[in-house]
Amino acid sequence: MCSAGPAVRPDPPAGGDVTPFELLSAIEATGEDGERPLAIYVHIPFCASKCHFCDWVTDVPVARLRSGSAARSAYVDALCRQIRSYGPLLTDAGYRPSVMYWGGGTPTRLDPDEMRAIADALYESFDLTALRQWSMETTPNDLTATKVAAMRDLGVTRVSVGVQSFSPAQLRRAGRAHTGADSVRAVGLLREHGIDNFNLDLICGFPGEPAPAFEASLDEALDLDPPHISVYPYRPTPGTIMAMQIDRAAVGAHTAGPMIRIYERAMSMLRTHGYGEYCHGYWVRRPEDEDLDGNFKYDLTGDKIGFGSGAESIIAHHLLWNENSEYSRYLADPLGFSVSHRFDTAHPEHLTAPIGGALMTREGVVRQRFHRLTGLDLDDVRATGYVQRWFALLHDFGGRFVDDGHSLRLDPATIHTAYIGHLAATAGLHIGRA
Ligand SMILES: C[S@@+](CC[C@H](N)C(=O)[O-])C[C@H]1O[C@@H](n2cnc3c(N)ncnc32)[C@H](O)[C@@H]1O
Ligand code: SF4
Repeated sequence: MCSAGPAVRPDPPAGGDVTPFELLSAIEATGEDGERPLAIYVHIPFCASKCHFCDWVTDVPVARLRSGSAARSAYVDALCRQIRSYGPLLTDAGYRPSVMYWGGGTPTRLDPDEMRAIADALYESFDLTALRQWSMETTPNDLTATKVAAMRDLGVTRVSVGVQSFSPAQLRRAGRAHTGADSVRAVGLLREHGIDNFNLDLICGFPGEPAPAFEASLDEALDLDPPHISVYPYRPTPGTIMAMQIDRAAVGAHTAGPMIRIYERAMSMLRTHGYGEYCHGYWVRRPEDEDLDGNFKYDLTGDKIGFGSGAESIIAHHLLWNENSEYSRYLADPLGFSVSHRFDTAHPEHLTAPIGGALMTREGVVRQRFHRLTGLDLDDVRATGYVQRWFALLHDFGGRFVDDGHSLRLDPATIHTAYIGHLAATAGLHIGRA
């Protein structure tokens, strides 16, 4: 799953401790009846090691990230409690999940029994009969035949493999614990077990990596004929080892201009191989191989419930999450969301994920869906200084806005320049625009 476009996660707002009862009141207050689409996200904050670039687990101490079975089991218990408390409540309120995504971290750090315990809680708490896709993230060296068979038997239909690179030198610099051969083996295992719908994640523009080295990695990925490829321009995020190396000038980060050219070369290679970009960074040959969880979020289809420490939810015009840094509190009380905020124009920074995600798509921010999801009028949010400054930056990097009254979008030819330029400009590191 990719991040929410040119969005930055806001600082946690004051308030919090939403309980199931309070959430139910908020749902009732929307006054909407009938079936509501829902995306389920399950967050697993464990990994075999901490990669030097990764901005998903910056606030998780390495020892906890690498937790053994005792710690994992306490976390799985907390997750199951949270799912069993909120699931029936959401089901009674008319929510029907259409997509499910397990991410992290690395969900395949769980052993098959742990996966089964969580899946049982989900099957018992939700009506999953209309589920269209269940994706799970993995690292190549985590997959075993037993795990893949267990995932398939539980109902997983799509797997996203974090390949990142095929270059041995780059994998080492990135702090990855696997080789390119492990990625090839992982794809073989998925196919052997009938999981034909899978994605390969690649990162382009790692600091210090010459453009031809990335192109060689993309070539190796294309040789595997994956149904879906995600190409993420490297995000230099403070708090990661790689960002520290950039700040110490130990490695040179690509500035926005070269990064855009590296991405454009990837676009050309992918198109030559028959892939089309349906959302910034997401490439498929056939529409049926798209990431339906990504589409659900970026198309502003409906609410999402995120289970786990570090997961984010949007329910009944509220943004809710549990901070990774509050892991111990989550274990003790998985029913309370530590941070909650009702969307309003006084805090437009809480809307960067829905707006930034939708701007990565060709359809853009559809006004009526934005209103249903957030309870706000897009034009009121757009008039705030925060969003004006943000959009001015996207415009500075070539983003051309198109507004036909139905939706506000970026001209598709300019999405990547706006997105990559914004990344470089807001990284908080000394990366230039040139
Ligand atoms: C939450 S991570 C999970 C992947 C899985 N644990 C793995 O390592 O293979 C999802 C993806 O985010 C991407 N990612 C993480 N940090 C990034 C960064 N700083 N810049 C660009 N992409 C990043 C990686 O491609 C990664 O596979
Ligand atoms: S890239 Fe994946 S394995 Fe590496 S630290 Fe991030 S979530 Fe963990």
